[in-house]
Amino acid sequence: MRVMVTGGAGYVGSVSVERLVAAGHDVLVLDDLSTGHGGSVPAGVRLVRASFGDPDDVARAMAEHGTEAVLHCAAKSLVGESVTNPAKYYRANVVGGVMLLEAMRRRGVRRLVFSSTAAVYGTPEMTPITEDAPLRPINPYGETKRAFEAALAWYGAAYGLRSVCLRYFNVAGASEMHGEVHAPETHLIPNVLLAAAGGPALNLFGDDYPTPDGTCIRDYIHVEDLADAHLLALEATALDDARTDSQLICNLGNGGGFSVREVLEAAERVVGREIPHSIGPRRVGDPPVLVASAGRAGTVLGWQPTRPGIEEMIGSAWAWRGRHPAGYGE
Ligand code: UFG
Repeated sequence: MRVMVTGGAGYVGSVSVERLVAAGHDVLVLDDLSTGHGGSVPAGVRLVRASFGDPDDVARAMAEHGTEAVLHCAAKSLVGESVTNPAKYYRANVVGGVMLLEAMRRRGVRRLVFSSTAAVYGTPEMTPITEDAPLRPINPYGETKRAFEAALAWYGAAYGLRSVCLRYFNVAGASEMHGEVHAPETHLIPNVLLAAAGGPALNLFGDDYPTPDGTCIRDYIHVEDLADAHLLALEATALDDARTDSQLICNLGNGGGFSVREVLEAAERVVGREIPHSIGPRRVGDPPVLVASAGRAGTVLGWQPTRPGIEEMIGSAWAWRGRHPAGYGE
């Protein structure tokens, strides 16, 4: 299959590109490198430096590549920033997303897998969260992802677009070749490892939540398991596959969670020493518990996470850091 991966130079995108190439697919990366890293695109994979929101550039790249399906990983994805600068999120995630769909329509490309998020649920009433839980995002990031999911459904009904929305919970770990490098870094595991490597001490955002140890619980999934899910989801968009006759939505998680303290302790076991940390106030907008019900991805896509252990996830991220102390060297 000829697959265009938007955001293919980012963290999740790069591991997915690696997986698609290993499965024998012809991959084109479309990335404007605003947050991605040119150095993460493997030799032999073409990188088009362009925005997914520019339909002329996208349609041209699709024509040259002969794109048959799109894996849409590119997005603006910082929750806090989305609250202070919602315009940036609506422009990129909604307006840009629709421009991508328009380029696809122009080229007759009708298969798309979308990187969605648990943030579409907001603060859940029930846990684990199933896909039919109410969608009540509490920040523009989640709201813009929800809006684009809805656009995909309407494009499916009217124009025959076949889409799978994968609602990621917390993604962690690294492959041999690719790991997580963000600036600024806001996520827990990279910040824990930064503290372990002599960077600033970890700030635990609150220990007075209604959870067993007082810190927030999240459902962490290995980035390579996520890449496997992308491949299965792309296969499900085949034009004769009944699973995507209407839009398919799947949560991706392990169905269990780890608290912030448990993550810190697991990281201490991985690195073999104590990691400097302090307890700070709560971060605004953090629900106490976010755990996925991921049964549908199993029954419908045939996906099973194979690396659910938190130490394995942290260990792979730590090993990648060791091999790439300067990230992608940019
Ligand atoms: N945390 C800390 N210290 C840090 C960083 C994080 O204590 O330095 C805590 C957070 O407060 C939270 C947990 O660690 O309780 C996990 O935080 P992350 O920032 O790693 O991840 P989130 O759960 O906030 O975010 C994830 C995805 C988002 C998505 C969100 C859904 O990364 O894209 O889940 O709510 F929007």
